[in-house]
Amino acid sequence: MARGQDIGVFITGAAGFGGSHLAAALLERCYRVTGLDVTPPSRAGLLRGALLNECFRYLWKSVQDVRTEDIEGHAVVVHLAAQADAPLAFESPRYTIMQNIDGTVALLEAVRRAQSVSKVLFAGSGNEIGRARYTPIDEEHPLTPHNPYGFSKAAAEMALEAWRLAYGVPSVVMRSGVVVGPNMRQEVFLFRWLRNALHGKPIVVEGGKQTRDLAFIDDVVRAWMLVIEAPVELVVGEKFFVGSGEEYAIEELAEMCRDAVGSDAPIEYAAYRPGEEGHREAFSIEKARRVLGYAPRVSPKEAVALTAEWVRAVG
Ligand SMILES: NC(=O)c1ccc[n+]([C@@H]2O[C@H](COP(=O)([O-])OP(=O)(O)OC[C@H]3O[C@@H](n4cnc5c(N)ncnc54)[C@H](O)[C@@H]3O)[C@@H](O)[C@H]2O)c1
Repeated sequence: MARGQDIGVFITGAAGFGGSHLAAALLERCYRVTGLDVTPPSRAGLLRGALLNECFRYLWKSVQDVRTEDIEGHAVVVHLAAQADAPLAFESPRYTIMQNIDGTVALLEAVRRAQSVSKVLFAGSGNEIGRARYTPIDEEHPLTPHNPYGFSKAAAEMALEAWRLAYGVPSVVMRSGVVVGPNMRQEVFLFRWLRNALHGKPIVVEGGKQTRDLAFIDDVVRAWMLVIEAPVELVVGEKFFVGSGEEYAIEELAEMCRDAVGSDAPIEYAAYRPGEEGHREAFSIEKARRVLGYAPRVSPKEAVALTAEWVRAVG
């Protein structure tokens, strides 16, 4: 499909899990893609295919140092660069805040002076919601983050809204719960559980009753593509939940991991991480369905099974 010919998309955090999948999807549709990341090109293994594509340019720098000249000429900016690990944010809250809030403001300052940008897509997180006041959680639900990572993402989202209202920076927020699939971050609990299940080691569940919306990366990338290709007036200033739209307790996800690999590894329980008790990701994806035509194709169970195949391959 040659839909994207001559349309430039600028991805921050392009060398990561989501960024590399999105770059591949865009290049397949003949978009012109610039990927910014602090990862040295020699270590940007997830972009191996993209780096060989003449429609892809890699910009090795921090989002904190992005300039308007870097962005000018691109129609869409997808902002994925972040310190994306909730556990690291407990240990390093100020580093997380610097990456996620200061990095976002730096990008917004560069974008607001660019002439070419019609959409800035931001990948938000279920951690921004924290404690559900009602379910299903829709886009009107207030942000009440209960951990440092959620706070940093919520503050970044507020910055996008403020820059939209003050300067007309055309942002769109796409929030997800847990996104899994090949090349996912190996620090994420689901990766560790699958690996332990494969090796017969204990699956350690911190808490158990808190819930997650688990989505497969291809579905999330498809939702991002729908926003990239949507008419500006349909999506700018809007927020969407994109995920499976199904709620699972993490103790159920632990069972799912065991079943996916046919393992009898023991499930052990540990204390909840701070702020986790009562956390729910019972998202409504109705707005994404209605406005974007989004429909997940992979169920959480299938997503775990597909991810397990990859975990088995990487060992
Ligand atoms: N994966 C999920 O489950 C999930 C769920 C909801 C939201 N998100 C959000 O989606 C985005 C992508 O997540 P991911 O799982 O691909 O994470 P990732 O860690 O795989 O990718 C993030 C990339 O950003 C880069 N980066 C970090 N700080 C940077 C900076 N200052 N300048 C330039 N590059 C920088 C990293 O080097 C990395 O390549 C993040 O914003 C994350 O908060 C992820």
